[in-house]
Amino acid sequence: MVGGRRLQGEVRVTGAKNSVLKLMAASLLAPGTTILREVPDIYDVEVMCELMRRLGCAVAREVEAATLTIVVPDRVQTRADYDLVRKIRASICVLGPLVTRVGHADIALPGGDAIGSRGLDMHIDGLTRMGADFTSEHGYLVAHAGRLHGAQVHLDFPSVGATENILMAAVLARGTTVLENAAREPEIVDLANMLRAMGADIQGDGSPSITIDGVELLHPVEHTTVSDRIVAGTFAIAAVMTQGEVRVRNASAAHLDLALDKLARAGAEVELHHDGFQVRMEHRPRSVDIVTLPYPGIATDFQPQFIAMNAVADGAAMVTENIYEARFRFVQELARLGADVRTDGHHALVRGHLQLSGAPVEATDIRAGAGLVLAGLVADGITTVHGAEHVDRGYAGFVGQLRDLGADVVRLP
Ligand code: EPU
Repeated sequence: MVGGRRLQGEVRVTGAKNSVLKLMAASLLAPGTTILREVPDIYDVEVMCELMRRLGCAVAREVEAATLTIVVPDRVQTRADYDLVRKIRASICVLGPLVTRVGHADIALPGGDAIGSRGLDMHIDGLTRMGADFTSEHGYLVAHAGRLHGAQVHLDFPSVGATENILMAAVLARGTTVLENAAREPEIVDLANMLRAMGADIQGDGSPSITIDGVELLHPVEHTTVSDRIVAGTFAIAAVMTQGEVRVRNASAAHLDLALDKLARAGAEVELHHDGFQVRMEHRPRSVDIVTLPYPGIATDFQPQFIAMNAVADGAAMVTENIYEARFRFVQELARLGADVRTDGHHALVRGHLQLSGAPVEATDIRAGAGLVLAGLVADGITTVHGAEHVDRGYAGFVGQLRDLGADVVRLP
């Protein structure tokens, strides 16, 4: 890409990656036909479709219509193979549905990834309290259970994945589960909405305490995926960095409260609409401090994009990462573009420079890739982001959308 173009126009966001993968897993809870809408055309959905097929489901994807049809058989298979789990760690979200519906699961251990080690202790502890037994055999996590029973589960940390697995297991367990210190992300609420429509009895989702009364049976439904707040926010930050004007449609400003507030503090005009928002920037952004936290805090999935913004902002800012120990690794790539970022533990001090300078860089994960693309949009000359397939994992048609907004960017084969 060649930096320097002001982004201008309108972009429509589709369903959230971090919701749809869990909604697909939730379909396993009820035999029959589940239909999901606003399904993003991203690599992770493709991999998850393959996993669902190996579990015995028939999966049909209409990419144009952004629809996914999953036919879940009466008897599902229970093994999530290593070749898929290593591609998308989110495959672990089939654990809860399989244990509660079939009483057995055999899931490859995901291992570490480029943003740091990511444990499963809270998933295992929660399901153990509900009556499941776990062993680890040849790189696989093996779970056995009779019918699960409700339990009091208190998470050490509001883990998104653990909350989802325990929630999906509890809906078919005998009795009441109370999940404390639960994650509150909009994607959790989306999952709970779908489960409720399937017949589940859930209260308190979106708060730190979720109460689930198990039911005997669930039925399949049709469900529209919540909009992707991280994609929406990425476009908002891009608009600010390029001193542009972008209207983001099919987005929820409420899900981006703090992030949009940071952009306003950086000097942007943010206008809320019934179906999204508009961000306009007339000058160089001012630096803003960022602290990543579980929702409603600023998402760790915005950290690289905000570092990229601060790298060209007026002033210096402290960015504090509280979720992943290795998510600052990408700043070494950003430094290739001339960014001035010093990290110490989970803090990064970013001193803004008026101009970055285009260079080849390497994306190591989805959001690092997004941050590097944003930096390339304002860098002088040509920036080539290698490892762009990481970006494909979370951003559907990103290059086309950026081009429509006026960016000078192409996707190399
Ligand atoms: N953790 C544990 N033990 C557990 C569970 C989590 O130690 O049992 C730790 C992890 O190691 C990590 C932290 O808790 O340091 C957060 O993990 P969490 O479970 O909340 O995250 P996740 O479910 O693995 C999802 C998203 C991530 C997003 C995080 C935080 C999906 C598929 N992934 O991961 O998305 O960063 O929540 O919001 O939903 C991305 O989209 O780029 C991405 C990495």
